[in-house]
Order: sequence, then structure tokens, then C-alpha cells
Amino acid sequence: MERINIVGAGIIGLGCAWRLAQQGKQVVALDSREAGGEASWAAAGMLAPGGEFFEPSELATLALRSLGMYGDFIRELEAESGITIDFRRSGAVEVAYSDIEAAALESRAATQAACGIISEACTHLGRPARFFPDDAVVAPRDITRALRVACQRRGVNLLEGEPVTKISADGRVWTANGVHAGSMTLVTAGAWSSNLLADLPGGFPTVIPVRGHLISWRLPPGQLGPILRHGSTYIMQRRSGVMLAGATKEYVGFDRALDETAIADVQSRAETLLPLLAGQVPTERWNGFRPYVEGELPFVGQLGNSAVWAAYGHYRNGILLAPETISRVVAQLSA
Ligand code: GLY
Repeated sequence: MERINIVGAGIIGLGCAWRLAQQGKQVVALDSREAGGEASWAAAGMLAPGGEFFEPSELATLALRSLGMYGDFIRELEAESGITIDFRRSGAVEVAYSDIEAAALESRAATQAACGIISEACTHLGRPARFFPDDAVVAPRDITRALRVACQRRGVNLLEGEPVTKISADGRVWTANGVHAGSMTLVTAGAWSSNLLADLPGGFPTVIPVRGHLISWRLPPGQLGPILRHGSTYIMQRRSGVMLAGATKEYVGFDRALDETAIADVQSRAETLLPLLAGQVPTERWNGFRPYVEGELPFVGQLGNSAVWAAYGHYRNGILLAPETISRVVAQLSA
């Protein structure tokens, strides 16, 4: 039986493992820490092209295709895992704080419409705004929990706390505990991917971590329907009532230390956008590492003619792009 190693068990790695195991392949998924414990754990789960893509581009096309795949992806995953995933076509409201911002939002809406992102004028607390009805939210931690169960049920061998030290062009993978043979290896290790690929044929982009801080509050459910956005600030509410706000953009390498200044900045921006948050004490504060590649187009493909493939560099949109990336990778590995 064909045996495939997957290095990096976030949403994309686990999703590929699940799909390949559905095809009857023998899959070993390795993660240096806990599966789904890095960017997939930190991500807010905005499936929101309206706030990310302002003009037609290859990335916008991939993102819209992936958004269109989300409902079926979630339904199938819920059915295979028995786990309910908090996924909602919430829409999103982007707010303007000045006439200049309102005019920019209007003209952006026109170019966005050209790539299929529709919006309509509205107001938020008396301010001009635009409503993006197709934007959605999902709880990424629900997805990775469900993928873990779906993978187990399909016989994926998930090895956690297993850092990979070397990958060779013939598809073998080394850890402190030995060598994993494989007819193919797929690297889906987010911001760590290009370090892992260092010894392999070139042509793959370097990825750098871009740290983001987020905070959340436990509040009564139903206080916020659509995502609320202003520039780099966003707020959303889970069905459970948990309200989340993000984010910062920091170039500090892999420093995991919580930065109180960054957290205070997110909190103050969130309170301005949604005044009911004023005086609420966050119940969770965290950060994570977005995998940035120059040009922001994720790398998905084979390394030269080696037995190694990679999918990484999804930067701000790893959760949104997951269904499309998973199906593209699986099609390439099955060809
Ligand atoms: N997707 C939102 C962020 O990266 O902050």
C-alpha cells in the first residue's frame, strides 16, 4: 500500500491526511508539538474575502472557490467525526470612521464586485459602513478536533511531539525516534516549512512568521451577528457567546511571549469598534504565527522531481483556503 508522510498537522496537514486515508492510503502525520496547536489554534476563523481581497487576483479566486467549498467540507467532516463545528454565514460589516474612509470603502466595493465579492451600504452605530453578506465565521479549533477524530477513524497514524530533523528527496523523514519510509512526503508546517525543506531542490519560497495577538471575552450569546471590521481590527462572536478580537502584525521571529502592549492595543481598538466591550476583562489572550511568503500566494506543489510536496504560506487566510488547498494537494498526490 502507498505510504505518505505528512509533516505538520494543522488544519491543512490533517485535512490532507483525512482525504488521503479516505482513498485507502497509509498516512503518517507528524507534528513537533500538538496537532492543530499552532496557527490553526490561534486563528480567529474569519472566512471573509470581503476584508482581505480588494481587487481581482489569483489568490482572491482561490479564496472565493474555497469559501464556496466550506459548507460541504464542514458537513462531511461533522458526519465523519460526530463533532459539531461552529460555522456560520454571518456576513461582515466594515465600518468607516471618517468621510475619507467611507469614500475609500465605496470605491473598494466597486473593484471587489468585479471579482465577485458583493457588498451593500449600511450603517454601524451611526457610522457609514458596508455589509458583505457572503463572509462567514468558523471555529478553527472545532475543525482540528473533528479532523483528529476523522483521521483516527480512517486509520491515520498521528505522531505528536515528534519534531522532524531531516527530509530527504526520496520521501524519507527523520525524527529523534527513527526514520519513516514513504513513497511521498508532504510538508504542511506553516511558518516552519521552508526550514524543513532546506536540504531539498530549490524553487520553493522562504516563509517568515508574522505574529498576531488576539483576545477573547466570555459574553452572553447573540450579541454580535456579523463580523465587525475596521482596518486591521476585527471582532466576531461564537455561538457559545465567546467574543474574539484581533489582531496585530509583528515581525519578531518565533517569540511566543505575550506582549501586553499589543494586547492593550487590540483591546482598545475593539472597544472603539464595539463599545459594549468597554470594561470587559478578556478571559483569553494569545498569539500565533502567520506563515508569510513574498507575494502572499501560498506555495502548493512538488519540489523539483523529488518525492516531496509542500503546501504553505497561507499567511492571513489558512483557515479560509483550507478546503481548496486540501483538494488541490490531494489531486496532485493522487495523480
Ligand atoms: N485572518 C486574520 C489575521 O490573520 O489576523
